[in-house]
Amino acid sequence: MFGVVIIDYGSQYTALIARRVRELGYCSEVILPTKSPTYVEPWAYILSGGPGFAGKVKLSKKLAESSKPILGICYGMQLLIANDGGKITSGDQRSFGAEQVTIDRKDVIFDGLPKNFSVWMSHADHVEVMANNWQVIARDSRGGIVGVIDQKTNRWGLQFHPEVSQTEHGTRILQNFCQMFGKKNWQPGNQVDFLVNSIKQQMTEDGLVLQAVSGGVDSTVATLLTIKALGKKRVRCVFIDNGLLRDGELKAVRTQLSQQLPNLVILNCQDYFLQRLSGIIDPEEKRKIIGKAFIEQFQQFAKGNNISYLGQGTLYADVIESGGYGVTAKIKSHHNVGGLPDKIGFSLLEPLRFLFKDEVRVVGKILGLSETVLQRHPFPGPGLAVRICGEVTAERLSVLRKADKIYRLALDEHGFYQQIWQSFCVLLPTISTGVMGDRRVRGATIVLRAVTSKDAMTAKVFPLPIDFLMSIADRIVSQIEGITRVVYDLTSKPPATIEWE
Ligand code: XMP
Repeated sequence: MFGVVIIDYGSQYTALIARRVRELGYCSEVILPTKSPTYVEPWAYILSGGPGFAGKVKLSKKLAESSKPILGICYGMQLLIANDGGKITSGDQRSFGAEQVTIDRKDVIFDGLPKNFSVWMSHADHVEVMANNWQVIARDSRGGIVGVIDQKTNRWGLQFHPEVSQTEHGTRILQNFCQMFGKKNWQPGNQVDFLVNSIKQQMTEDGLVLQAVSGGVDSTVATLLTIKALGKKRVRCVFIDNGLLRDGELKAVRTQLSQQLPNLVILNCQDYFLQRLSGIIDPEEKRKIIGKAFIEQFQQFAKGNNISYLGQGTLYADVIESGGYGVTAKIKSHHNVGGLPDKIGFSLLEPLRFLFKDEVRVVGKILGLSETVLQRHPFPGPGLAVRICGEVTAERLSVLRKADKIYRLALDEHGFYQQIWQSFCVLLPTISTGVMGDRRVRGATIVLRAVTSKDAMTAKVFPLPIDFLMSIADRIVSQIEGITRVVYDLTSKPPATIEWE
């Protein structure tokens, strides 16, 4: 399939560019600088740069000599300029955030835009000396070079990020680039075919796929796509009960998935996980232990079953937060990405790795998933372990499960569940004083969390009514022994993350 190949030089926004290009109706694929595209035949390249790579790599010979149009963004622009003899200088001042841009010279990439507009910047290095044959088309408020073109080779560079919503007319700029050279070939409806084909192309080895399922929308969609690509005979669906599930989770998974996945294998590994987590407090250590324990269980299952692939519902948010490809900052090691041991003994099959959650929900809808599965709040693989601050024990799990059940049922009863993107309780080790039946008591703290989001990259607090929150607090404290205090988390992402650990 023809499309735009986006090369990731360590930007947090790379998948956003790929998404914008898809939304404009063109197929796209993200690759690392050292890799070739697997399913897209490029008609153009976008170089997506971030500070992680700044000054560390050069434009490859293949790209330097390519006759295809190229748009370099941020460090991607600097790569193009440096390659053609220009000079990039490291700045002592980082330009981060909103900035005004003025169009210096009329150009088709700015068609339909006003002369001045606001953009989003994130860079310290800048172009000091222009390259041969290149011309400046836009400048920032200090006269710095922020838009360039080499007309002869159809190459553009933008110092700012057209893909983020903070850049005015950013989508129009990407549209101008795409429609100059590409033919529209992407609609939500053909995503399924595209993803199914990409799975087929990745399956170069014989052997079966061990498909990890959790009951969530991501792993269910990944599983259905894999079955569509390879047929049921080549796919073994495995659900691991790690003992870190919510109340009623296993039953719900059985009910929801039994129709679509009749051969679902459920492995009870509760003790295995709990033993390994005993005494562990550090969140990163917990995630690594859980990631490893999952793999060990899969390896155990794979013995004698001719398994060569591990299928996972990994999304872009998991990849980028785990440190992307080692060039973006690590926020937390998602159990299925950064939490995986170095050697796992399988090739990974992750068809959703470049998609955002809301895009996956669209694919799920096309595949006929029920609204219950589609609208299910995300639940992380490490489960309640990352919602228990401090040590994970059977007792603390039981307390959290009870609080979580009260909160979840009430949200559903009052019609809030569908309006919220993700909700859950967190158990804190903080002990506070309470008074019950004229007695002084000491107990732990439960945090209630509810956020709205589109793709988990950012999130806002859902404004639950105070009366509702107070009634939940009353119920939790009166029904669960050991809890004396309930608080509501008022922090958005950023600066907080959605989960507490
Ligand atoms: P944070 O807490 O980083 O979470 O804002 C973003 C989204 O990812 C989920 N999450 C995980 N999912 N394994 C997963 O499968 C993990 O290790 C993990 N950590 C966070 C989180 O629930 C939220 O939806």
